[in-house]
Amino acid sequence: MLLKILILLHLVGAAVWVGGHLVLALSVLPKALREKNPEVLKSFEERYEKAGIPSLVLQAVTGLWIASIYVSPAEWFSFSDRAHIHIGLKLIFLSATLLLAVHARLFIIPVLNTKNLPWLALHIVMMTIIALAMLFTGFNFRMEVL
Ligand code: HEM
Repeated sequence: MLLKILILLHLVGAAVWVGGHLVLALSVLPKALREKNPEVLKSFEERYEKAGIPSLVLQAVTGLWIASIYVSPAEWFSFSDRAHIHIGLKLIFLSATLLLAVHARLFIIPVLNTKNLPWLALHIVMMTIIALAMLFTGFNFRMEVL
């Protein structure tokens, strides 16, 4: 029962995190680039942040908990079989997400202007690709497509 509840919460977090990034990358970002207007991104960011950050925390907590049910934490980076590879990949993607988010928040967003807008755009595209990779890795864990 615990695993089922954790997976349900994990799916809710995935919907908010991946959904929010798809809206950002496919709708808000093109508008900001077209109009060369960083304010479009800032105002979305301020509103989405309230759901986006809790959803990422939820993903990390539920994901690590689920992973520890399947594989002992001491073996998380052993890449020795399918389950270990999936968990190792998820942890690499999570680290990349955190690095990109901290870099954007500390070095780009505080000085955001029309000149460095393309750098934030690159971050958004990379974060969205990684979010989709996280989703596919999770889906593939059980579905065994690859
Ligand atoms: C934004 C980040 C993440 C997204 C979008 C995401 C998405 C998903 C999705 C859609 C599933 C499929 C659930 C199912 O139907 O079984 C899943 C499963 C899984 N995720 Fe994540 N995940 C994220 C982060 C993490 C993290 C940080 C970990 C920690 C290692 C993790 C570990 C797992 C595991 C072990 C499963 C397999 C659960 C099962 O099938 O029993 N995830 N994830």
